[in-house]
Amino acid sequence: MAAPKETIWQLEPHTRAKHEILRRYLQAWMVILSQGRFPDILYIDGFAGPGEYEGGELGSPIIALDTALSFRPPLQASVHFLFVEKDPHRAEHLRQQIEQRSIPNNFNIVVEGGVTFEEAFSRRHQQYLRGGKLMPTFAFIDPFGWTGAPFALVKLILANPSCEVFVNFMYEEINRFLNHPDQVGNFTTFFGTEDWKQCVSAAEARQRNRCLHDLYMQQLHTDGGAKYVRSFEMSNSRDVTDYFLFYATSSLLGLKKMKEAMWKIDESGEFRFSDSTDPGQLILFEKAPNFATLRAQMLHAFSRKTATVAEIENFVVVETAFRETHYKTQILKPLEQEGKIQVLNAAPGRRVGTFGNPAMRVKF
Ligand SMILES: C[S@@+](CC[C@H](N)C(=O)[O-])C[C@H]1O[C@@H](n2cnc3c(N)ncnc32)[C@H](O)[C@@H]1O
Repeated sequence: MAAPKETIWQLEPHTRAKHEILRRYLQAWMVILSQGRFPDILYIDGFAGPGEYEGGELGSPIIALDTALSFRPPLQASVHFLFVEKDPHRAEHLRQQIEQRSIPNNFNIVVEGGVTFEEAFSRRHQQYLRGGKLMPTFAFIDPFGWTGAPFALVKLILANPSCEVFVNFMYEEINRFLNHPDQVGNFTTFFGTEDWKQCVSAAEARQRNRCLHDLYMQQLHTDGGAKYVRSFEMSNSRDVTDYFLFYATSSLLGLKKMKEAMWKIDESGEFRFSDSTDPGQLILFEKAPNFATLRAQMLHAFSRKTATVAEIENFVVVETAFRETHYKTQILKPLEQEGKIQVLNAAPGRRVGTFGNPAMRVKF
């Protein structure tokens, strides 16, 4: 899709899915941080858009704001919003959307219009520092293409504790312009490395796709320092990748909540949404998870080993697309009934097929 020129534009079904994930995730994130230890939290929308689509659907900054407004009891923390929109008309439209809402005193909303995300962040970020560190932040980076989203900025955000990023990697656009001589510097800025050039020569489309995907993921891990990175692929009905969403965090709880949001996505049938972190394992987010895949992954990982339930859960959450709710009843229980695993240190009276105790040791 070419970037629209109008102030507001039509919502694509793919965008709706992205918004659904954002809303669900923020519902968890805001509560966890606000009711937790943090007096201040920050939501950044670096490519905010006008806050509304042609059919009246809400844009991402308003989704974030309305989510924050929806809590009962209300959020206790000071909730900061930094919305950046380069197009002044879109920024103005966004301001109008915000003015229609009643904003409590503990909300601090900044709309930076007519400037880039990079400019706005460098101008403003001082005000979001607490003890020299950026306050706990969720940064949504949602460009139309690749310009204006330098990896150095992603890295700057991730360098702070409790800060995470959610990046829309516009694969279709990036791939289309990858050979363009004018864009060499811009791609290096976006990836934070020149290594993307190695992907240009990939013979097949799928190879190139994985090369670019894996490079960005590696950058988030190694250069960005994020402990956990997962990627999600949005593809059309012809199986062509439209975009990847990269989520990078150092919080295990954040990772769990993001996966929960992903598994609840309601597909329209016009697209396919999958976990694409592991090249060999494209896991579709369907109503019923494919438990056969998880079973195979667990049997492979723990073959002939002994592990605690906590270790098994950590594997499921960190190393697979599946959730902490997916592995006990659906996998461990039948495995025990089939005699394929044994519980070594069960408490007296434990019922077969129950795995409530994280310290319980399971022999595969
Ligand atoms: C994909 S749209 C954002 C949609 C919005 N996040 C949502 O989900 O409703 C990208 C927006 O970024 C704006 N933009 C483009 N380059 C920018 C930059 N360097 N900094 C900030 N905004 C930019 C565009 O005008 C456009 O409105």
